[in-house]
Amino acid sequence: MIQLIAGNWKMHKRPSEVAAWMAALKQAIPAEGVEVAICAPFTHLCALQQACAGSAIAYGAQDVSAHASGAYTGEVAAAMLADLGCRYVIVGHSERRSYHREDDALINRKLHQALAHQLRPILCVGERADERAAGEAEAVVLRQLAGALEGIDVSDPRQLAVAYEPVWAIGTGNTATAADAQAMSALIRAALAERYPELAAQLRILYGGSMKPENAAEILAQPDVNGGLIGGASLEVADFAAIVKAAHHA
Ligand code: PGA
Repeated sequence: MIQLIAGNWKMHKRPSEVAAWMAALKQAIPAEGVEVAICAPFTHLCALQQACAGSAIAYGAQDVSAHASGAYTGEVAAAMLADLGCRYVIVGHSERRSYHREDDALINRKLHQALAHQLRPILCVGERADERAAGEAEAVVLRQLAGALEGIDVSDPRQLAVAYEPVWAIGTGNTATAADAQAMSALIRAALAERYPELAAQLRILYGGSMKPENAAEILAQPDVNGGLIGGASLEVADFAAIVKAAHHA
């Protein structure tokens, strides 16, 4: 399976910085063998569309509205993202779950919108530190998956990726061990197999949470880890390119 390395720029960089950054990235990574995507703020997407034209690098957004269109000031619809050529959209990131009170029902509606407009959602799931300490990590992840995927039909494995992002690992420098990442990814794949028996083996499960050049190779080599969602280390070309190369060898 081709690995997916997706950068999550969060609320960083300016639109005017995109062209030079992408030009440097193109020089630094192999042209094929790994699927590379950048998920950027909405304001950066036009610049990404121009910068990615003619290359295999994909781009996408970090959120999408649960509504198709209408009087929703400040929201951005899936159709608008698709119109800008976005391939991906992150849905259910833990920062949106915690700072914007997104729950599984809302995330489910966002997934429906994304898929209805041919966007490929990267669905984020993951437990908090207190939930892991209480022995609830698996139950939390399974509950998030079940809630998000309610009524979601997938006919092509490229349509959906799931990112396991333990909240305690995001932006903290604390990475899950490769064994923990593998164990949770295997659990996620087993849950996906109940829902999508024919596709689950080919659905991509990403790891996210302080992935960096030093730990990427070991995590990406795990059999049920098929890529990464990279926050901090996606901001510098050298770091991000090193992770792409690690995926190339995985
Ligand atoms: P991080 O973020 O790599 O900075 O931990 C990952 C994410 O939030 O997607």
